[in-house]
Amino acid sequence: MSLGDISAAPLEDWLRERYFDASLDISSSGVLNYTLGELRELLGLETSELDDVIFRDSPSTGCEELRETVAARFAPGRADAVMMTHGSTEGIFLALSALLRPGDEVVVLDPVYHALSAVAEAAGARLRVWELREEDDFRPDLDLLERQLTPRTRAVVVNFPHNPTGACLDAAGRRRLAGMLARHDCHLFWDAAFGELVHDGPPVTAPTEAEGLAQDRVVLTGTLSKAYGLPGIRVGWCVAETRLLTEMVRIRDYTTISTSPLNELLALRVLRDADRVLLPRLDLARKNRAALLEWAAVHDGLVTCPTPVGGVSAFPRFPGVPDVTDACESLLQRHGVLVVPGRCFGRPDRMRIGFGGDAEEFTTGLERVAQVLGEASPAVPVQGGSAR
Ligand SMILES: Cc1ncc(COP(=O)(O)O)c(C=O)c1O
Repeated sequence: MSLGDISAAPLEDWLRERYFDASLDISSSGVLNYTLGELRELLGLETSELDDVIFRDSPSTGCEELRETVAARFAPGRADAVMMTHGSTEGIFLALSALLRPGDEVVVLDPVYHALSAVAEAAGARLRVWELREEDDFRPDLDLLERQLTPRTRAVVVNFPHNPTGACLDAAGRRRLAGMLARHDCHLFWDAAFGELVHDGPPVTAPTEAEGLAQDRVVLTGTLSKAYGLPGIRVGWCVAETRLLTEMVRIRDYTTISTSPLNELLALRVLRDADRVLLPRLDLARKNRAALLEWAAVHDGLVTCPTPVGGVSAFPRFPGVPDVTDACESLLQRHGVLVVPGRCFGRPDRMRIGFGGDAEEFTTGLERVAQVLGEASPAVPVQGGSAR
């Protein structure tokens, strides 16, 4: 397999054809998007500061001030290990391409966000699967991971909180993971896209040195796309040991070369004042999550919904509908409601529902989901909500 053979991303295929036609988007794994105006007001950012940007090339790993700011929040003391990227997608692509060679083994989650497995596969790695089991409500079971580790394991790739299920690894789990991987000659690749979107506890990040894993063995990616409501800004970052960063720069010279100074300025201002941008969205997501769980309780029989510990996506199952794809099409055609069918994550009887958006739109969207899925599973009477 070569890079050009990389497999299609069913999630992106689904969204690209429908995203711009939806009037009620409850599909997203990110929080409610900000406008530039809202952002400028929140941060006290003047247009004159934007006018002063010179459109020259930035350094290959991003401007120093921004790397220091990322390090201060996500990897204290490691500014030299930070590379700014075009969303975390670029960080995932560069780091896995730099890290893996044909014949290496990589452990990936299932269900999985496509980039985290497809890039490894395109790099020639052999995938071994760490399943998040439905019967465990997708809670990660480290015994299952342990069985997948071999002397050829080069990386274990995870994303916690997890897209699409919202499952997470708790502190004891992170310590056990650190101890397990310390005994293997491999990297831990930790996608922290949703690390700051945790609902009943503090933010979650990769195991630290204190938890037993040397930091040069950890690759961490992060993004402004999810918790910060800024997917269109295309700013992410990757924290990795210097040797790996050098390889990533070599590969980047053939793709994006560097990041935009305008986006770097915006990212710098956001991350310096991160909570101002983050906390209102986290508050909204927590309220929506409560509404989601209440909705699932009201529609017991139609839907079962594992409680998302973090992130803003849930992955409910509709036991009466073996494949929800047609119902998802119908939701969009009849009601303008966009969701993601579970087949995009290899689970056709489930649906990804995003709960990070506007509260009213979210509850209206949920009513429509119950209505359409209720019709698709005739044994279940449609509860509550309008039947329009
Ligand atoms: C787990 C995970 N990682 C990475 C990404 C990539 O996001 P971005 O490139 O916008 O940072 C996504 C987007 O959905 C995601 O869900």
